[in-house]
Amino acid sequence: MDDIRNIVVLTGAGISAESGLSTFRGSDGLWEGHRVEDVCTPEALARNAALVHRFYDERRTKLAEVVPNPAHEALAALDAQWPGELLIVTQNVDDLHERAGAKRLVHMHGELQSALCAACGKAKPWKDALPPASVCDGCGKPSLRPDIVFFGEMPYEMEAIDDALRRADLFVSVGTSGAVYPAAGFVQTARHVGARTLELNLEPSAGSFYFEESRMGPASMLVPELVWELLG
Ligand code: APR
Repeated sequence: MDDIRNIVVLTGAGISAESGLSTFRGSDGLWEGHRVEDVCTPEALARNAALVHRFYDERRTKLAEVVPNPAHEALAALDAQWPGELLIVTQNVDDLHERAGAKRLVHMHGELQSALCAACGKAKPWKDALPPASVCDGCGKPSLRPDIVFFGEMPYEMEAIDDALRRADLFVSVGTSGAVYPAAGFVQTARHVGARTLELNLEPSAGSFYFEESRMGPASMLVPELVWELLG
């Protein structure tokens, strides 16, 4: 791994599983009998705002009960010590990467601890319950919603992510099923620019075929091992 300078790491729900946060597809992928896919949509928000807000309130509250695991901590150590470029792109909306100390980090699917105004687009930190029709302190409209990228909406930071991928020498995917695009396509961009591609996951994913190397096992073991290899 000594010819590596620029790294992109994509993380998914699997990196937070050992902290006690449920994944989307690993469990039964249901919440109160609803398919998660049916709750995380603009239509669900329009149809039943109280249900969608309750779904995210419960997940926001849960954050107080969990802590980063060795995988988050290893990535934060890599972030602190890696001399080249590094971007951690997380699909997760929890704050475990931040709490472990990661700095070079983007949340492409938004964050539980942020509220977004559907009217003026202003986002603000939000740690408590977010009742429907909460008032935006920017425009004064009752339009605050969870700052989560719903299915069908444009993920955040795509330009920065694409830019980092095109400069990458190494692309690492951790704890994601490779079921959702555009994240699931990042490995192909990395391959296209000649980067090395490595998947760390509990089991083969929908994208395993695209990776030069796949290591199966828990993130809390595989990620520290990889960071040790990189920092040497
Ligand atoms: N260590 C490593 N990998 C794990 C672990 C673990 N301890 N536990 C589970 N995994 C793996 C599972 O095998 C699975 O492949 O993590 C992956 C989790 O996949 P998903 O539940 O589909 O989560 P994710 O890939 O992050 O979902 C992507 O879909 O629902 C949307 O927007 C949501 O960001 C989410 C996106």
